[in-house]
Amino acid sequence: MKKLCLLGLFVSLASPTVLAATTPAPLENKDAFVNNLMKQMTLDEKIGQLRLISIGPEMPREMIRKEIAAGNIGGTFNSITRAENRPMQDAAMRSRLKIPMFFAYDVIHGHRTIFPIPIALASSWDMDAIGLSGRIAAKEAAADSLDITFAPMVDVSRDPRWGRTSEGFGEDTYLVSRIAGVMVKAFQGAGANTADSIMASVKHFALYGAVEGGRDYNVVDMSPVKMYQDYLPPYRAAIDAGAGGVMVALNSINGVPATADTWLMNDLLRTEWGFKGLAVSDHGAIFELIKHGVARDGREAAKLAIKAGIHMSMNDTLYGKELPGLLKAGEIQQGDIDNAVRAVLGAKYDMGLFNDPYLRIGKAEDDPVDTYAESRLHRAEARDVARRSLVLLKNQGETLPLNKTAKIALVGPLAKAPIDMMGSWAAAGRPAQSVTLFDGMTRALGDQSTLIYARGANITGDKKVLDYLNFLNFDAPEVVDDPRSAQVLIDEAVNAAKGADVIVAAVGESRGMSHESSSRTDLNIPASQRDLIKALKATGRPLVLVLMNGRPLSILEENAQADAILETWFSGTEGGNAIADVLFGDYNPSGKLPITFPRSVGQIPTYYNHLSIGRPFTPGKPGNYTSQYFDDTTGPLFPFGFGLSYTQFSLTDMALSSTTLNKTGKLDASVMLTNTGKRDGEAVVQLYIQDVTGSMIRPVKELKNFQKIMLKAGEQKVVHFTITEDDLKFFNAQLKYAAEPGKFNVQIGLDSQDVTQQSFELL
Ligand code: BGC
Repeated sequence: MKKLCLLGLFVSLASPTVLAATTPAPLENKDAFVNNLMKQMTLDEKIGQLRLISIGPEMPREMIRKEIAAGNIGGTFNSITRAENRPMQDAAMRSRLKIPMFFAYDVIHGHRTIFPIPIALASSWDMDAIGLSGRIAAKEAAADSLDITFAPMVDVSRDPRWGRTSEGFGEDTYLVSRIAGVMVKAFQGAGANTADSIMASVKHFALYGAVEGGRDYNVVDMSPVKMYQDYLPPYRAAIDAGAGGVMVALNSINGVPATADTWLMNDLLRTEWGFKGLAVSDHGAIFELIKHGVARDGREAAKLAIKAGIHMSMNDTLYGKELPGLLKAGEIQQGDIDNAVRAVLGAKYDMGLFNDPYLRIGKAEDDPVDTYAESRLHRAEARDVARRSLVLLKNQGETLPLNKTAKIALVGPLAKAPIDMMGSWAAAGRPAQSVTLFDGMTRALGDQSTLIYARGANITGDKKVLDYLNFLNFDAPEVVDDPRSAQVLIDEAVNAAKGADVIVAAVGESRGMSHESSSRTDLNIPASQRDLIKALKATGRPLVLVLMNGRPLSILEENAQADAILETWFSGTEGGNAIADVLFGDYNPSGKLPITFPRSVGQIPTYYNHLSIGRPFTPGKPGNYTSQYFDDTTGPLFPFGFGLSYTQFSLTDMALSSTTLNKTGKLDASVMLTNTGKRDGEAVVQLYIQDVTGSMIRPVKELKNFQKIMLKAGEQKVVHFTITEDDLKFFNAQLKYAAEPGKFNVQIGLDSQDVTQQSFELL
């Protein structure tokens, strides 16, 4: 069979010489169906199924269709409309065995309607809201012919220097695990084989959030106990929730790249956890095994990856090029290839594609006339989820909510920033459809609007940073730079502020600053914007900071300068309306931080659930020889779980139903929650447990449960949590997951720091 190599793609010029008889397969039995199909496949057809290619605008469509018809491609990503994908599926239907293609995309926090970025979703601590965002994302993606998403991203991240902190659900194992399960179920709906659902592939397996120094793509060196205890549970939760796929991480783990790690992929994922789904490499990761220095060349890279059970190779041609030779030389076995093919076909079966290859593509006559039609968006849901994700960090003298009759100066480079509002990984979201803060506030004020706007500053005054952020976007730079001098911009904003009763400053990061490959050495708001804040403060007008950013920032100085601070992350298509709802008091903020805010970058890591130590810093009793930085206050600026409301809540009368717990028993921890303020509002009551003495050092506390509760002004409610032995289990030095008898402290609070405590004994 003669092949033509063009752009790295192999085009078959003739049909396979030996055509197996195509016998109808029993569709009702997955294993039998897949086995039957595999018996009919040639080696080339099998290897073709392992190729996952990205469809860029520059790709020659005609050639791709030829490739597909020749059975050389298993699936694509980045082609995201029915009209684009239908001809590819038609091509697959012209292939010898008519094996359907699947179409994938990074649907991370919405598809056409963009919801808040994942770290913001986590800030809602609202599983219904998070689930709703995932369900709508799946429906919209499926309606655009997509079958599978590379999400959820459940990498626990405790180093905000890492740009992909924005894409995950924060620092806490329990919270991230809960969300992992919710997201998988939301994406997959009634089943990954249903027309309005997409398959979830959890990523990045594994430990990507722990890259050294927060430097993207870097190494991870971690003890097995820490892995099992802190970093692996969210992936496990996603798999237990039924995730059909896994995307393998780009980093190495203890000296072995995940893409070549047979322990990770085979022993842990498949044998120990029982995962039977599809494992996809990350972009170009198989080729990168050469760069990691574990493979001499492409041949060895392909061998390592297939042996580790990486089923599909994303955007490299190594499997196609190398697997036949490796098989012939006996360096890999037919079984290695067959396992991978079986997984790809199995996933396609699970996506319902053998039953109907056009399940999500539908009929041409039903294609949307306008892909971007407003009617295809879910604005009301996006607005509600977004406002639930906003975190009020400071509100001195009840500066917020704002009075609609007040004269407001709206300043800052993020006040009119539709692209940034959507955050990174904004899928098919359209900037023109996203509501900026300016739009949202203007609409909220209606005819009475006295909003005075001034830009005030550029995102950054550093040309090198600007160029980096606009890399690949030079034609229409994503980060707009106002050519006026910094002083002119500031003067204009100060003038606007002087004529106003209150200043709202939208400051922080552009979305590209919190993205893949966007690691930072400092967590400050860029200097250009800090200068603006200083000048605004000097006007003496009340100052409200609306932060937009994808990671915790170190805002010690700004916290002192501002009267109120609202953390809005990047809140999506309806962000401007949602933020306006909170600023004007039409919605009472209820978000809580899913990640600690450090005072300075030097404090990192600052996660709340660190291990106990021999010489802990004791507040009020400083002095030498305790664990602290002597040049700054110890502790975070804002702790994990923190967030204010326009009302106040108190927790009183904490009680445990018993001072002992049997291994098979239950304990009730209760507390009286009272809304002591004047507005209705939601509180997040958080339950932490500390294992006081164990065979290994245990964390000072760990989140084990929480409830988000709405109370009317003045209303009270007794909140109950059930504690069982399961909540007390941990991985010991032998990696055995068990609870150990002894004393446990139970802490209940409205954040991780300010808690009341009771103790019990596990018998
Ligand atoms: C990212 C993945 C993503 C993939 C495909 C990679 O660079 O690490 O998270 O799914 O690209 O877009």
